[in-house]
Amino acid sequence: MRQYRKREHVENYLKTEHRGSTLFEDVFLPHNSLPELALDEIDTTTKFLGKDIAFPLMINAITGGTEFAENINADLAELAKRLKIPMAVGSETIVMEDEKAVESFRIVREIIGDEGIVIGNMNGNLSPEGAKRAVDIIGADALQIHLNPAQELAMEEGDRDFRGIKERILAAKDALDVPVIVKEVGFGMDADVVETLYGAGIRYVDISGYGGTNFFEVENLRALNRDMSDLYDWGLPTAYALARAVALEKKDLHITASGGIRSSLDLVKSLVLGADMCAMSGEILKYVLHGGVDYAEDYVRELIYKSKIIMVLLGSKDIQSLKQVRWKATGRLSELLR
Ligand code: FNR
Repeated sequence: MRQYRKREHVENYLKTEHRGSTLFEDVFLPHNSLPELALDEIDTTTKFLGKDIAFPLMINAITGGTEFAENINADLAELAKRLKIPMAVGSETIVMEDEKAVESFRIVREIIGDEGIVIGNMNGNLSPEGAKRAVDIIGADALQIHLNPAQELAMEEGDRDFRGIKERILAAKDALDVPVIVKEVGFGMDADVVETLYGAGIRYVDISGYGGTNFFEVENLRALNRDMSDLYDWGLPTAYALARAVALEKKDLHITASGGIRSSLDLVKSLVLGADMCAMSGEILKYVLHGGVDYAEDYVRELIYKSKIIMVLLGSKDIQSLKQVRWKATGRLSELLR
């Protein structure tokens, strides 16, 4: 069941048409006509999970478990290696049911090598042993645990009981010697949830907001019995969820921005708003499947090049100084944040 579902998720993702808004269009950045910088001196390198990377962008969790998924993971891993950016694998929960699924995850570490960052992924029903296994399989630098109640409720065969997840996350965290990253899957994590997790000792979150991959739509394309299209607008836009998480002002909280990031402006705006890292799934998957690794590499290199142009025009020499840019919220974002 789970194996079949994985393929459907990828195939149905490509068929989705609904376009929600991240509200990044409501983030206004000040143009600087006198930047006193050269394009060549713009430095986008940063550190994540103790390792050096070329740009604060990672390939977010997508897939694993089947031969079909293994081919996609091999391409994504090659892309991550060439670009010197981290990659998270898709949910490893499938391994607990089917040992044969291991290879589709292991290949990611084999391709990326020890210098690169590979992140594991499990759902919130994990056990401490399952968490350790997920880390061991890929020699993970961190383990993502995804919160996806909306996606589960959209699936006919999905979970219906979401009690006890926080306790299981904490038990997993205690069992591991690498950080746990708690993430959403495109509906946005509210600051209240971020604060609860922070209070419980979690220091890495990915707010994965609304405006990109929409699992109400992805699941609706699989569903036979019920039409869920009236829920396509559900979720917290990425810019909103991110701004609220940053406003908690937790100095040692690492915030990843994801959900609907497609352009260099989306990337730079995320960093200006206060994200430490950006992550993309859907858009990168599309490029890899439609045109292969070279095509996806060109796309991401263009994103990084244009991000450097924007950094010059903001007068920001490096990633850290982007956080000092004085942005303004306009329109609906400003209304929601008021
Ligand atoms: C996902 N996502 C996801 N997340 C996760 O934590 N575990 C998983 O196994 C998957 N699987 C998955 C499959 C497919 C086909 C897609 C497109 C996405 C969610 C993903 O990591 C991310 O949080 C959201 O997709 C939002 O980002 P984008 O796609 O809008 O960039």
